[in-house]
Amino acid sequence: MHDNDGTEAVNGRGKIVLHRVTKYFGTEKSEKAVVEDCSFIIEPGKLNVIIGPSGCGKSTLLNLMAGFDEADAGTITFDGVRIQGPSSDRLVVFQENALFDWMSAYENIVFGPHARGSRSGTMKTRAHSILERVGLSAFQDKYPSQLSGGMQRRVELARAVINDPAVMLLDEPFRGLDAMTKGLMQEYFLQLYAENPRTVVFVTTDIDEAILLADRLILLSNGPASLRKCINIDLPKPRTAALLYEEDRANDIKREALAMLYEEALKSFRKQKRSDDDFLSAYSGRTRRDTGA
Ligand SMILES: Nc1ncnc2c1ncn2[C@@H]1O[C@H](COP(=O)(O)OP(=O)(O)O)[C@@H](O)[C@H]1O
Ligand SMILES: [Mg+2]
Repeated sequence: MHDNDGTEAVNGRGKIVLHRVTKYFGTEKSEKAVVEDCSFIIEPGKLNVIIGPSGCGKSTLLNLMAGFDEADAGTITFDGVRIQGPSSDRLVVFQENALFDWMSAYENIVFGPHARGSRSGTMKTRAHSILERVGLSAFQDKYPSQLSGGMQRRVELARAVINDPAVMLLDEPFRGLDAMTKGLMQEYFLQLYAENPRTVVFVTTDIDEAILLADRLILLSNGPASLRKCINIDLPKPRTAALLYEEDRANDIKREALAMLYEEALKSFRKQKRSDDDFLSAYSGRTRRDTGA
């Protein structure tokens, strides 16, 4: 056995196991399962991407893993211990902006370590190195309102990375950014990840983003959410956006995943059919009246 320099132990942390998890929402009369009998494993030290159509229950699952919410049935464990609440081991980067708008970029980034009483010298050095890493050195004294959308997301990433959590949970962190900024953010994220490998759970609805980033792709079925398929993405690294055009294997994965995602999205359209029919008949009724037909 070779010597372990510590990275192995760090990389090996953060295994999350979901076992037959069910979650209901609604009042007693109209309770509906949003997640049902859902089991999968978040592999430690890997970039795990969860993908599924909008509204299928991805954020619900992420909240359960973060410990913000509790499952109604089944168990979720973190390195073998049942998750019973939030922990600084598992930090979340949300899709909406969660920066403190009265603090500068730098203050936002050091807020967590500062609150935990980290030595300020070490923290300062680390914050500056992370700011540089995400290309924001020149903007460290700016307030969130003075930063572009892409810059704000980079501050959020830096804020999570400096806390060095065993697991980073990201809920569609690049949603709503324009295509150029999104592409750049994905590159930043891959670089950050290569330099600070850890367990990542990254939620997205974007198949290109998923294939570009993922070591493992966890594809969800729709309403209620459960595991549809887990695909290992064994594409070469470092990855660039061109990968999706150049690698046949990337295209094969995309085709397979898209076929399943379409099927899942169709399920929810079919479920809505009744209300569509109501809408159509109401609409045609009105049209008949309006035209005197
Ligand atoms: N707190 C809640 N109360 C009631 N219903 C909820 C709540 N949170 C989510 N839902 C419902 O659960 C489903 C899944 O939501 P969500 O997990 O946010 O989906 P996704 O993140 O995949 O878009 C949606 O139909 C949503 O309306
Ligand atoms: Mg969501």
